[in-house]
Amino acid sequence: MSPKKKSAYTVPKLKAFSTTALDKAVLDLIDALGDEAQAAKMSLDAKGFRDRWMARKNGILTEVNEVWLKTAPASAKREVGKRVNEIRAKVEERVEEVVKTVEALAIYGQYAANTGKGSGGAVLDDVLLHKLDTERIDVTLPGTRRLLGAEHPVIKTMNEMVRVFRNLGYSVEEGPEIETDYYNFEALNFPPNHPARDTQDTLFIANQESKPLPERLLLRTHTSPVQIRTMKKMKPPLRVVCPGKVHRNDAPDATHSPIFHQIEGLAVDTDITFCDLKGTLDHAMKEMFGSSVKTRFYPSFFPFTEPSADVQISCIFCGGRGYRDGGPCRNCKASGWIELLGCGMVDPNVYGFVDYDAKKVSGFAFGMGVERIAILKYGVDDIQLFFNGDVRFLQQFA
Ligand code: DAH
Repeated sequence: MSPKKKSAYTVPKLKAFSTTALDKAVLDLIDALGDEAQAAKMSLDAKGFRDRWMARKNGILTEVNEVWLKTAPASAKREVGKRVNEIRAKVEERVEEVVKTVEALAIYGQYAANTGKGSGGAVLDDVLLHKLDTERIDVTLPGTRRLLGAEHPVIKTMNEMVRVFRNLGYSVEEGPEIETDYYNFEALNFPPNHPARDTQDTLFIANQESKPLPERLLLRTHTSPVQIRTMKKMKPPLRVVCPGKVHRNDAPDATHSPIFHQIEGLAVDTDITFCDLKGTLDHAMKEMFGSSVKTRFYPSFFPFTEPSADVQISCIFCGGRGYRDGGPCRNCKASGWIELLGCGMVDPNVYGFVDYDAKKVSGFAFGMGVERIAILKYGVDDIQLFFNGDVRFLQQFA
């Protein structure tokens, strides 16, 4: 497009019919045709362009016929007729080109509007016209290969464990990661000065000294508060697992992470015994680690269960023998057993916090660390690998 504004082209009367004069007239017309074609593309007005040049009534081609051919002296008729035919061919060619371009721009504009890419067809410029002219897509080229994502090994392990319990009829409950002291400690029968309540172990939300202790907020240190929330919400019989993220004031190293995951379990009914607990966890461990795995219940202590136990499984690396490859097994420190989770019968004091009748109901609870299970299952030697986001590590679980 010319930067100068030209006045619109009109077909001039021919004063002379010499070759030079005819050439000049034709050149002027072709120039105008080119300029107007460009302008028509910019304004997306193919119809206006076609009408101006080809309309039977008052179209420029008709004018050329009227003004040039009909007024030509007999001697010049042949020459003029030849040029008029040339002009017609050029005009038809240009009109077709403008129609095609405007169609393409409309498609491009729609595409841009739909995808948010490109200039949206509203503002058309030489750059865009050039792009349309030069950019071609070869649809036969192979597509861009996009790698498939995969479940993170921790989430995968968590889902597998949840599935084992769902198959036993357990449902899934979740609770908040920001908890109150009441749910995280008090209702779980932790005494006021229990060391877990110390800032050494627990991450408290700052500036809450003015609140009474039970209302103070903290990052839950275990999934056990979901037991309380569930029992407040539901009446027995109940069987739930509660997967989720927990936080502790620990410095990260190969076996510690300030954030990790747990799965809590709780079953409450009228006649639940320690046998049920043993049978359930023995089954779950066999499902997770293979049917040859044995379990062992070792006396322990948790404020919210009585009696309490730590569950150990026979070492999956040495088959419980305590030695392998001609030496002591590193994984179980030659004991043949690996400690995996805590459990016990729900302490009657806990029922007091949720208005259950401790004389009528009984139940068991358990809690396990998901990373710990994943480490054993996949033979990972550093818990930090789960959190570093190194694709080379994560890809192995895809
Ligand atoms: N909440 C305990 C912890 O984080 C684990 C635990 C032990 C949960 C015994 C239980 C249980 O439900 O009965 O160390």
